[in-house]
Amino acid sequence: MISVAIDGPAGAGKSTLSRKAAKALGFIYVDTGALYRAVGLKFSKSGADESLSCDIEKILAETTVDIRFIDGEQHVFLDDCDVNDEIRTPKASMMASAVSAKPAVRAYLLEMQRKLARENNVLMDGRDIGTVVLPDATVKIFLTASAKVRAERRYKELLEKGSKVTFQEVYDDMVQRDYNDSHREIAPLKQAQDAVLADTSELDFDGSLQLILNIVKERL
Ligand code: DC
Repeated sequence: MISVAIDGPAGAGKSTLSRKAAKALGFIYVDTGALYRAVGLKFSKSGADESLSCDIEKILAETTVDIRFIDGEQHVFLDDCDVNDEIRTPKASMMASAVSAKPAVRAYLLEMQRKLARENNVLMDGRDIGTVVLPDATVKIFLTASAKVRAERRYKELLEKGSKVTFQEVYDDMVQRDYNDSHREIAPLKQAQDAVLADTSELDFDGSLQLILNIVKERL
């Protein structure tokens, strides 16, 4: 099986670019951030806040997260409900970041991700795909852009969805999440030694997609 691992910080355009790139390659696209978001949502629904001063193991034992592909698109199910839209709010983002720092949560989601890559040609995106989940991935890419550019992109996306956030809130959120994701003890966000760096700060969407496809095709 062929696996392409794409890691990078929030807002680098990973999901949109990865979805398109996977389609062009004929691979399954696995958005692993959505799994952490679903777990975060479960913790919110259980009454926990970002401090997660709750019985993590107990909540996980009562949680079922799975991925189903509907018309080729990944849908994340939490306890048998499709939560694809619910997991995209700024609050869900912060909860996802909080739960993703917990070793028990990472262990809970690890095997599911590896199984998908054992059984399919995948393009998988996240934070630790090239370093932890698929250390032997066929191709590894570290996709990034400056924090300002990433916040601008995310802000535009949220405005289009009718959200009332300010740019400053989005930017501060982004910087905070970068810090959380790269400073946690377990599986922090970092470029794998053998990953190719793809910086899209100066590129538009089509340019970024072309860059990714070129990197992959050169290595297959
Ligand atoms: O990519 P995203 O914004 O949907 O990810 C949500 C959160 O999940 C993010 O704060 C980091 C975490 N995450 C992770 O720790 N490991 C992954 N492989 C994917 C996401």
